[in-house]
Amino acid sequence: MKPRVYVTRKIPGEIVARLQEDYEVDMWPKEDVQVPREILLEKVKKADALLTVISDRLDDEVFSAGEHLKVVANMAVGYDNIDLESASRHNVAVCNTPDVLTDTTADLAFALLLATARRMIEAAEFIKEGKWKSWSPLLLAGTDVHHKTIGIVGMGKIGTVVAKRAAGFDMEIIYHNRNRHEVAEEMLGARYCSLDELLAEADFVVCLAPLTSETKGLFQREQFQKMKKEAIFINASRGPIVNEDALYEALQAGEIAAAGLDVFNEEPIDADHPLLQLKNVVALPHIGSATKETRLAMMETCCDNLDAIFADRAPKTLVNKDFLGSRN
Ligand code: GLV
Ligand code: GLV
Repeated sequence: MKPRVYVTRKIPGEIVARLQEDYEVDMWPKEDVQVPREILLEKVKKADALLTVISDRLDDEVFSAGEHLKVVANMAVGYDNIDLESASRHNVAVCNTPDVLTDTTADLAFALLLATARRMIEAAEFIKEGKWKSWSPLLLAGTDVHHKTIGIVGMGKIGTVVAKRAAGFDMEIIYHNRNRHEVAEEMLGARYCSLDELLAEADFVVCLAPLTSETKGLFQREQFQKMKKEAIFINASRGPIVNEDALYEALQAGEIAAAGLDVFNEEPIDADHPLLQLKNVVALPHIGSATKETRLAMMETCCDNLDAIFADRAPKTLVNKDFLGSRN
């Protein structure tokens, strides 16, 4: 009998067709509505594999219900939605989709930086609302990006290619990370510094760190107060790294100049949220990896990982490495 895969979100027919060659496929039929918790808990009971998205919470309750579950392929590089300890304890492999989304996510992070600095969203709304009366010297004047200092918090794969883009804009690159990144230092002239030094020196503070117990709530009022008044804060990793009340207060008080946010504490964020009322906030609905090419590549990576597990090969992008040891 073919292994059973439960797909927690409607995905394109071509990917479903690929899965159907080797698996019994069951899928939540909606593209823009999350699978209800009780349905996930019911479906996981029979599933040998789950193909999931970041809004699915995969905790001990899910892993305990999944008696036959062997693998979770999460369509994201981040896996803070998954209790890895519980997965390993239940002998479930957890796989993510790094690499295929690195350049695409870096493009979006840099685009968000540019859009925020140059007030592009405000300007686009301005012209469509018929407000453009005349060329004027300081109309929608933003702030320069070139030759400024970018401070990257989280110099992983995405951080490194954001730095590469910044180098093309003649920016000075500083970074803070758990470990030194020698390649970025040698190839891009990136300079390692403490978080406090970075906050004090950067014109653009760009958060690309994964959400972990160490990074949760990393940006509080104090961190914003340490930034320059002209600083622009960009977050393209995970919302809970930032205390949003503190960010709002810092923006209101003029302690920093603007923010570009692709991620939020609660997703989807409420349209009435105070942050979304501010002119100097550019907000995007978590679209870092959202190009057609990359999203398909992420789904293919999920399929490759399922194939590896059911063929008893080591998957390419396994997150809980202890899973391999537990198989023998
Ligand atoms: C998206 O946020 C991802 O982790 O891939
Ligand atoms: C992973 O791809 C990262 O950028 O941290």
